[in-house]
Amino acid sequence: MNNLAKPNNNWDAALYEDKHAFVWQYGEDLLQLLNPKPGEQILDLGCGTGQLTEKIALAGAEVIGIDYAPTMIEKARQNYPHLRFDVGDARNFQLEQPLDAVFSNATLHWVKEADAAIASVHQALKSGGRFVAEFGGKGNVQAIAQALYTTLKTLNIPAPVMNPWYFPSIGEYATLLEQQGFDVVYAILFNRPTPLVDKETGLANWLEMFASAFFIGMSSQQQIQVIRMIEEYLRPTFYQDGTWTADYRRIRIVAIKL
Ligand SMILES: C[S@@+](CC[C@H](N)C(=O)[O-])C[C@H]1O[C@@H](n2cnc3c(N)ncnc32)[C@H](O)[C@@H]1O
Repeated sequence: MNNLAKPNNNWDAALYEDKHAFVWQYGEDLLQLLNPKPGEQILDLGCGTGQLTEKIALAGAEVIGIDYAPTMIEKARQNYPHLRFDVGDARNFQLEQPLDAVFSNATLHWVKEADAAIASVHQALKSGGRFVAEFGGKGNVQAIAQALYTTLKTLNIPAPVMNPWYFPSIGEYATLLEQQGFDVVYAILFNRPTPLVDKETGLANWLEMFASAFFIGMSSQQQIQVIRMIEEYLRPTFYQDGTWTADYRRIRIVAIKL
């Protein structure tokens, strides 16, 4: 762990639950790919506030949720006190029992050290166990990211040294999986334009929740100015009938441990 960069673990769990329920609502689809069965041991990796962990449990599986952010784990425990949630890092977690499956929704694009995460997942699974994940894929939020970088450049504000997101292609991620002993049996990259529920403030709230790395060190006034400029830049294409849409592009994979 010591040579791994420290990712943001300061997620605002209340804001996440209040304004971004779409994340796990879209993720419910992924549960069909997981197809959890009664008695299976399953890990929900990057479980957030636990909504999908609970769905896996409802299918009769024995599920554990792990998340890097103590704030998210605290909320998950409050939401579902009958389930087990632990603070842990996708890049180096270990569990007592080998698992039938590792499930992960909307988390792995925050994990730039994909190799380390894949190694941990591999080590946690039984032979024949499955890894079922969805996250941002190549081209995800490209227009939003471009607007962010253009705005920062226009205002002469330095962009973060490290972009916080990892959006791989199928080729890239499948190769990493194969190199570490997985058989990739399913992979898809697809556009999923995602309406942001908060009407006029939808994009601003999205930026506040998911692009906070870009605002570190800015005064609140500067932050407001940046957000306004991004909105003006994107409004003609991504704001229609009073709703913002984010240009999501997702990658889904199912890989089996050989
Ligand atoms: C967008 S939320 C998704 C939460 C949940 N899977 C859902 O569908 O609602 C992303 C989560 O990834 C977690 N995360 C980010 N980096 C992580 C890491 N290295 N290890 C474990 N969790 C991580 C964050 O703390 C956050 O809760």
